[in-house]
Amino acid sequence: MTQRTKTASIFLASALTAFPLSARGQVPAKTDWKAPSRAKRKRNPFKADPATILAGKNIFLRNCMVCHGSTGKGDGPASAALRPKPKDLTDPAVSSQSDGELFWKIRTGKAPMPTFRSTLGEKDIWRVVVFLKSLGKKNDSPKPAMESLPPRKAVETILRRYLSLLRDLRAERWGASARRTAKNLSRLAGSLRITGSKAKKANDFWRSAKSRIQHGASILASGNDGFLEGFQEITNTVDSLITYFGVREKEPLSLFVCRMSGSKGGNLWIQTGTKPRNPFPWGIKMPDCGERVKTYPTATDSGAKHSSK
Ligand code: HEC
Repeated sequence: MTQRTKTASIFLASALTAFPLSARGQVPAKTDWKAPSRAKRKRNPFKADPATILAGKNIFLRNCMVCHGSTGKGDGPASAALRPKPKDLTDPAVSSQSDGELFWKIRTGKAPMPTFRSTLGEKDIWRVVVFLKSLGKKNDSPKPAMESLPPRKAVETILRRYLSLLRDLRAERWGASARRTAKNLSRLAGSLRITGSKAKKANDFWRSAKSRIQHGASILASGNDGFLEGFQEITNTVDSLITYFGVREKEPLSLFVCRMSGSKGGNLWIQTGTKPRNPFPWGIKMPDCGERVKTYPTATDSGAKHSSK
């Protein structure tokens, strides 16, 4: 142990009783710190989704905050005693490094920063890296600026997000990521205005559709029992938007229904392609789940339809 590390350990031991400090694997100080190129190329197995960022933040607060500060600026309670000072992790010089390089540095350590090889699992280090990368970006949950689009473009934008919501619902069985996509859909709807505002009727229609989408999405995003109702409200609204303003899809776009046998009503969804892919978790075993209710005009015939209707 160098004199410097010892000082840091003693300081930390008093600042944070259970703080794990191991001095092994440290590189001599004062060099320009670089990771080996093999390490730089390692890929992060985690994506920057809110859950991972939050997990990484908690690991950071427990293990790194004492030196780097709660916002990563390098101003933690132990930083005053340290030479060299902890790096400002929000600096582009740090946030621009590859995930693999940051992973290697955190695992390896460099006096007075301890190695985390034995105190953090690899997965937790990758999660911290995701969190560090999110520090560089100011707008964690950006408020989208209002955007004005021609009506059909606006409907297509909503439809794209609706289809990705559908993918999430299928993939994750109506789980957390679908709830997030629903929130995004709501935010998107809130931020879209339509241009060509001569027609008051079109604008009123658009506004009420927006609020119905936002209402449906908030039900879906809440994860409560009514989530299906929320999804149906969104689907019905997207259907009415497409019917009112039209879209230009290359692929066929249809409205399908999943009915309980014998009942008249059912659960609706809109998808591209002709083979129904039921998104509802309980409908998989139902053979009559996937009747086509309606086919929307495609890019090739929508022009004709638009002028004739
Ligand atoms: C004992 C104080 C201390 C703790 C605890 C600590 N660090 Fe550090 N960290 C430092 C110091 C000091 C440096 C600067 C080292 C140098 O450049 O010589 C540094 C550098 C770094 C760097 C490299 C920045 C660059 O120059 O590329 C990263 C990344 C980093 N720390 C992340 C972390 C993370 C993540 C944790 C928690 C898992 C952590 N540190 C815990 C003190 C600490």
